[in-house]
Amino acid sequence: MEKIIVKKSSNLHGNIKVDGSKNSILPILAATLLCPEECKIHDIPNLQDVKIMCGLLEALGAKVEKTETNTLKVTAENITTCEAPYELISKMRASFLVMGPLLTRCHNAKVYMPGGCAIGTRPIDLHLKGFKHLGSDIKSENGYVNATTEQLKGRDIYLDFPSVGATENIIMAATLAEGETILENAAEEPEIVDLANFINSMGGNIVGAGTKTIRIKGVKKLHKTEHTVIPDRIEAGTYMVAAAATGGDVMIENVVPSHLQPIIAKLREAGVTIEEYDDKIRVKAGNTIKPVDIKTLPYPGFPTDMQAQFMAMLSKADGTSIINETIFENRFMHVNEMSRMGLHVKVEGSSAILMGNSHLSGAKVRATDLRAGAALIIAGLLADGETEITEVYHIKRGYSNIVKKLQNLGADIRYEK
Ligand code: UD1
Repeated sequence: MEKIIVKKSSNLHGNIKVDGSKNSILPILAATLLCPEECKIHDIPNLQDVKIMCGLLEALGAKVEKTETNTLKVTAENITTCEAPYELISKMRASFLVMGPLLTRCHNAKVYMPGGCAIGTRPIDLHLKGFKHLGSDIKSENGYVNATTEQLKGRDIYLDFPSVGATENIIMAATLAEGETILENAAEEPEIVDLANFINSMGGNIVGAGTKTIRIKGVKKLHKTEHTVIPDRIEAGTYMVAAAATGGDVMIENVVPSHLQPIIAKLREAGVTIEEYDDKIRVKAGNTIKPVDIKTLPYPGFPTDMQAQFMAMLSKADGTSIINETIFENRFMHVNEMSRMGLHVKVEGSSAILMGNSHLSGAKVRATDLRAGAALIIAGLLADGETEITEVYHIKRGYSNIVKKLQNLGADIRYEK
């Protein structure tokens, strides 16, 4: 079984280039199903999740072709089946994003429910409510959601919570609906804007993406396009925190600084110097980290996908920090692993209280999910001795070449079979 071995590494230094955004490319790939012509997409990150989504597009009848290193051409001229199989959907929750495009283009979609249950900790009720409002009939049976419609019709939809996935799925479904959809309390993440820009570049009519109210005027047909994915703000944030935690000095290239404001603000509060340029950010840290309190919120609030990495950094803060997770239940699985490395932490409900001044030491730990895995790497960089991280496939879902990139910054990290 593949492992990542990390040893204490102070003062990461050098330059690092961020890849295209995982959370942008997944909905964008799903949106290629809306268009019968070729979509050429650049800056595709080399990630397991992208491979899964490409496999799903091919299973549905699309042609997917890799033209250059980070470029893909997808042509969904013929959709041969509207059923997304269990084997592919169960591998990745974001596969459910094919439901909106299939439903609006084929008037029928049968998609396995992610996680096998619609009322678990990550339900899909908001996606389904949106599809129902647009005029589809929804049935759930044998673990599948089956949605059918004669023709989707634009409507006013209010989201009870600004879910990223539901906003994306509803935007895609409304793109080929008849009439105008006004989506209120929509998610405002930069990845939503990227998706809307991609659809508009194919002839879609979406305004207001990036605000709470998005207007989608249905169009009859989309045409070929070429698009470059935005940089991954979470990958960028992870390397910023790794640099800050190790007392390093790192230039992070290929970023959109405005997407990183909540992360920048919290790092500055922790005493880290951040210099912002047009498309790069320099992180310069001293040896001490000040304690900070964090509350995860929908964008432009602090991203839930960054709290685990901050927890690793705040282990060495000179005082108590509180991390309050408001987006997901049960997103403190990394706490157990970090506690075994010596993190002084207490979880009370949705808050983790970090005492600070923890003396971390290397241990055998498990990457319980993608961001938890990245956080354990950062904890390993701070810990005395050797940290052995298993279940690294979680990390590969969202970080391409993480080991190589950190080695280039001087980190003592390697894969081991
Ligand atoms: C996306 C991101 C993920 C990030 C998350 C929150 C992708 C591929 N993934 O996930 O990295 O952590 O946004 O920023 O973009 N909810 C419901 N009903 C629904 C849908 C969601 O109750 O129908 C709840 C979820 O259980 C969760 C919260 O809403 O508590 C946020 O989920 P959502 O914004 O939908 O996250 P994802 O799109 O799954």
